[in-house]
Amino acid sequence: MTSPARRTFTHDGIAFGCDYNPEQWTPDVWDEDIALMGEAGVDLVAINIFGWSHLEPREGEFDFARLDDIIGRLHTAGIRVNLGTGTASPPAWLTRQHPEILPMADDGTRRYPGGRQAWCPSSPVFRSAALRLVDAVARRYGDHPAVALWHVSNELGCHNALCYCDESAAAFRRWLRTKYGTLDALNAAWGTAFWSQTYGEWDEILPPRATISTRNPGQFLDFHRFSSDELLATYRAEAGVLRVLSTQPITTNFMVTAHIENLDYWSWAGEMDVIANDHYLDHRLSDPTAELAFAADLSRGLGQGAPWILMEHSTGAVNWQPLNHPKSAGQILRNSLTHVARGADGVCFFQWRASVQGSEKFHSAMLPHAGTDSAVWREVVELGGIVDRLGEVAGSRVESDVALVFSWESWWATQTDSRPSQALGYLDQIHAAYGALHALGLTVDVVAPGADLSAYRLVVVPGLHLVRAAEAAVITDWIAAGGTALVTFYSGTVDQDDRVWTGGYTGPFRDALGIRIEEFAPVAVDASLTLSDGSRARLWSERAHATTAEVAASFADGPSAGHPAVTRNAWGDGEAWYLATLLEPADYRALVADIAERAGVRPAARVHGADAAVEIVRRRGADAAYLFVVNHGDSPVEVDAAGVELVTGVPVAGRVAVPGGAVRIIREEAAA
Ligand code: GLA
Repeated sequence: MTSPARRTFTHDGIAFGCDYNPEQWTPDVWDEDIALMGEAGVDLVAINIFGWSHLEPREGEFDFARLDDIIGRLHTAGIRVNLGTGTASPPAWLTRQHPEILPMADDGTRRYPGGRQAWCPSSPVFRSAALRLVDAVARRYGDHPAVALWHVSNELGCHNALCYCDESAAAFRRWLRTKYGTLDALNAAWGTAFWSQTYGEWDEILPPRATISTRNPGQFLDFHRFSSDELLATYRAEAGVLRVLSTQPITTNFMVTAHIENLDYWSWAGEMDVIANDHYLDHRLSDPTAELAFAADLSRGLGQGAPWILMEHSTGAVNWQPLNHPKSAGQILRNSLTHVARGADGVCFFQWRASVQGSEKFHSAMLPHAGTDSAVWREVVELGGIVDRLGEVAGSRVESDVALVFSWESWWATQTDSRPSQALGYLDQIHAAYGALHALGLTVDVVAPGADLSAYRLVVVPGLHLVRAAEAAVITDWIAAGGTALVTFYSGTVDQDDRVWTGGYTGPFRDALGIRIEEFAPVAVDASLTLSDGSRARLWSERAHATTAEVAASFADGPSAGHPAVTRNAWGDGEAWYLATLLEPADYRALVADIAERAGVRPAARVHGADAAVEIVRRRGADAAYLFVVNHGDSPVEVDAAGVELVTGVPVAGRVAVPGGAVRIIREEAAA
């Protein structure tokens, strides 16, 4: 399907805003809200995200009075509206009349209403009720001068990505027929010869519902692809209505954030007029700050490098992790400006005013329960002032000569029921590799398998478990043409059908890497491995032989003692490195530093007195370049730079001082 022509989101400078849920408050509070939004510099607010039961209290009966009022007030105050279609959560009357729209878990039990997003992505009843609402909203506000952007639904697939009901089963079968054409092709792709699983009729095929043994991995993989496509179809249907009734750009908020794995945003991104992402720090990770940078780089990657919008993040604690941490002093600024450094042209929060009721009453907001006499509010106002001064940065693009290949399909395929070690996770490999690059201060573009690599000097391919021959060839050809790549374990293990590449693991990478892996030998989660160069590693080892590669380090102990752990192979004019284990962070960093040095890759500017906690990114615009320095440490550092510092307005000649915890953004002189 060809995507409609992309519309451009335009804004005066960097957008600053929030989700706003005025339906939780009375009109006197709205007045205060809008006055305080002015004080904070808020100029873009997302409204009507969960508006359905208010706009359509009974089937077919619409009441727009309150939304008219809110949009009017915001417009009068000069605040632009990011207008939700309102379809994120169906009203109670709809699920009562049509309980068949409720999603079903893989054990066949329905999920009840009473939370949110209680709808099956394949339900035609839900789809038609939702589109009727979108049509009504778009007719009413399609030309309203306050509307700057359309916000389709909300975090599509956050809770309902995988539905196993009969309606989903029928839709899955239709999707499979389109994909495979014949049952023979499907049986071959899923390897149904195994365990007597061969299908003789399309109607025999079900979603991968709970089984008493492990499930067919090919079915599991295709069900993920199908489920991602079903939600994309929901987006497409809503956007299709909006496109006819309004000329404004359209998007939906992605969830490029740790642990959300169900949607292949590479296939969605081309249909967004502007990429929008929601990001929340995940304190269950060992390095939440590095994950933030990764998510921002991936958001930019989804837009092929174009500026994107941070649609939601938090001023402090969320309410959905086991332990919810507030932010430290200055962290709202550091987190927000890291997103801007990495290409965001909008910084928005969930939400404006902290709720006093409902599931999210303990979720932070721009205006906390404590009111304006609070550190959070003061930092929000300070941030608003800085964002205002950064207007000229909007539209500029991040510079990077390192790419990291990321794949949702590999994520799904890695996490199928049966694998060499249950402790093996795709995201862990991604975070470990990205963490090493991040700690070295290198700027990374996150790209899809098969993406053009010609702009890069170094490409990192962490655990790319599922790979098509053509995708691997893009990487190996690029190496042969003079590139340097680091491929890590479990890459190149299966093809697009989850069928093992035989002849030695790493399959289509094998020749370029100059190694042949005979067996995987994962180790217990608490086991530690030592390499011949003294490096420490964990999780994984393998029994491999170097064919043409040079062995840089081998396993000194563990089940693969004596086998290569780090190898380097000359391939054409380039170098192909392979890492057969998960190095501990300091050793991973040292290896990547070595490889980066050989590839001629450096941070965007030189840091003096740094610990590992300084991020440096350059955005380049038509008239100037902007060097962002985020000092996450407590000690001051100095960075080589010349120009004008935009946070303080002070000229910089030679070096800029960046106090502990501070952010500095230098408009560089033309020569830089
Ligand atoms: C998501 C949702 C919001 C809110 C936040 C809380 O991003 O889109 O509605 O629930 O999470 O972190």
